[in-house]
Amino acid sequence: MKKIVVLTGSPRKDGNSNRMAESFARAAQANGCEVILFDTNEMVIGGCQACDSCFSGGEACIFEDDFNEIAKQLEEAEGIVFVSPVYWYTFSAQIKAVIDRLYSFCVAEKSFAGKKSVLISCCEEDSLETFDGIKFAYDKTIELLQCENAGYVLVPGVGAEGDIEKTDGLKMAAQLAEKF
Ligand SMILES: Cc1cc2nc3c(=O)[nH]c(=O)nc-3n(C[C@H](O)[C@H](O)[C@H](O)COP(=O)(O)O)c2cc1C
Repeated sequence: MKKIVVLTGSPRKDGNSNRMAESFARAAQANGCEVILFDTNEMVIGGCQACDSCFSGGEACIFEDDFNEIAKQLEEAEGIVFVSPVYWYTFSAQIKAVIDRLYSFCVAEKSFAGKKSVLISCCEEDSLETFDGIKFAYDKTIELLQCENAGYVLVPGVGAEGDIEKTDGLKMAAQLAEKF
């Protein structure tokens, strides 16, 4: 069974990006994948301390917060789904802390080769240009980790909780599950 780790970054439980994450997860499970969802907003994950002691104690990070639980699952996963609203033209701080801590995999020279990832995001502004920052950060991050990009769902024009229902975002998120 393929394991897919989904990382969500919104504080809105029933918000637009979380609804897309759920739509993706349901479709992936229907396809026979195991989906492990981490709501980074509910986890204690500090910023990277740049101590370069990564994996020296066995675990990804010597600082024992919730990141190590995610790291363990990422090591075993075949798929990674980054789900975040656009906050100031990039990832929300909650999920960005996880991305910063992925530095541990670089320090330990553990690549994500063989894994696939996707980006699911939404924003209030109407222009697709609003995603330039988050998309660039995602593209360069997975390139460095040697992870294969399997696609994006980027939905502009959704501000209020639930606006995503008026778009084809949920359908596109479900379709992304076919990529794994
Ligand atoms: C702190 C903060 C920063 C935001 N920054 C942007 C932004 O730069 N561009 C934009 O279009 N929307 C921005 N938004 C709006 C959200 O991206 C939008 O409401 C989105 O639908 C929220 O997704 P969610 O329901 O999954 O939390 C911001 C919202 C917050 C709370």
